[in-house]
Amino acid sequence: MVVPAPELPARVRIHEVGARDGLQNEKAVVPTEVKAEFVRRLADAGLTTIEATSFVRPEWVPQLADAERLFPLVREVSGVELPVLVPNQRGLERALALGADRIAVFASATETFAKANLNRTLDESLALFEPVVRRAKDAGAWVRGYVSMCFGDPWEGAVPLPQVVRVCTALRDMGCDELSLGDTIGVATPGQVRQLLTALNADGVTTATLAVHFHDTYGQALANTYAALEHGVSTVDASAGGLGGCPYAKSATGNLATEDLLWMLRGLGIETGVDLSRLVATSAWMAGRLGRPSPSRTVRALSPKEQ
Ligand code: HMG
Ligand code: MG
Repeated sequence: MVVPAPELPARVRIHEVGARDGLQNEKAVVPTEVKAEFVRRLADAGLTTIEATSFVRPEWVPQLADAERLFPLVREVSGVELPVLVPNQRGLERALALGADRIAVFASATETFAKANLNRTLDESLALFEPVVRRAKDAGAWVRGYVSMCFGDPWEGAVPLPQVVRVCTALRDMGCDELSLGDTIGVATPGQVRQLLTALNADGVTTATLAVHFHDTYGQALANTYAALEHGVSTVDASAGGLGGCPYAKSATGNLATEDLLWMLRGLGIETGVDLSRLVATSAWMAGRLGRPSPSRTVRALSPKEQ
């Protein structure tokens, strides 16, 4: 049943991260052709922003070491934007050489995670991204800046708000078109979300340039998303079937499942352009490839047969 909420955005753009955030965390390396099929099926379900892969150092994330083979297989899928992660100039050149036109750099709000994920201090990592963003913009690419550990860090605990805001504004000042606020380990609660969004607005970061990226470790991802929608955020990251995690953040579990998000948005009368049953079928198919059931409640509820 649909009960519209006129105070919320009328339309939400889902930034689908299953093929990247999801598959980077799988123990087994998924065959390239299966990844390509996954992206095609996500597009068939109506998703228009599908984060395809990462051009990181292959030794760091072997699961996505096939980026050079995968990207050309999905590049021609029509009607989709295919952002890719790049950590540095080397990654950017690899991505641009294949025709990528939407890239994402990924910063951390904490020192410990900057070290664990990028082998750099926080300031060194911002210095690493500066020429990457500039060169990407010069090449005509659209650039997203992720900020991880916005709401808590497994090593450092609570993260001071001004520290998060500093990293966000640094990425904004570099020229990032969009910032995605990451709850990498899924510890946030809705009041924190409201607090960070308000603080960012106060520093001139407009809500229209913000996306939210919640992992669901403590079951808070949907509540946090709702808080972000109430604030006016209309770009939400999610992962088909709830795949995901981060290999360099202990206690990171899957992302908010795209199907769970869709169930809520549909009930609120919010447009996404995504077909829920097709997406459930895709996640059930992927669960079969991975050999385990999807953690998404909605996928399980709508897939009567054993996955
Ligand atoms: P490093 O080991 O310090 O590398 O890694 P380096 O800069 O010292 O370079 C050493 C060698 O690696 C050089 O080769 C480079 O060319 C090569 P050599 O000259 O010795 O022959 N190299 C590369 N090769 C291919 N592609 C590259 C590349 N870069 C260097 N891009 C580095 C530093 C940043 C590269 C590494 O730490 C890295 O790749 N990290 C990525 C980790 C990652 O992908 N984490 C997961 C994504 S983030 C996430 O999931 C969070 C998010 O979802 C949001 C949230 O939930 O919060 C986005
Ligand atoms: Mg993530």
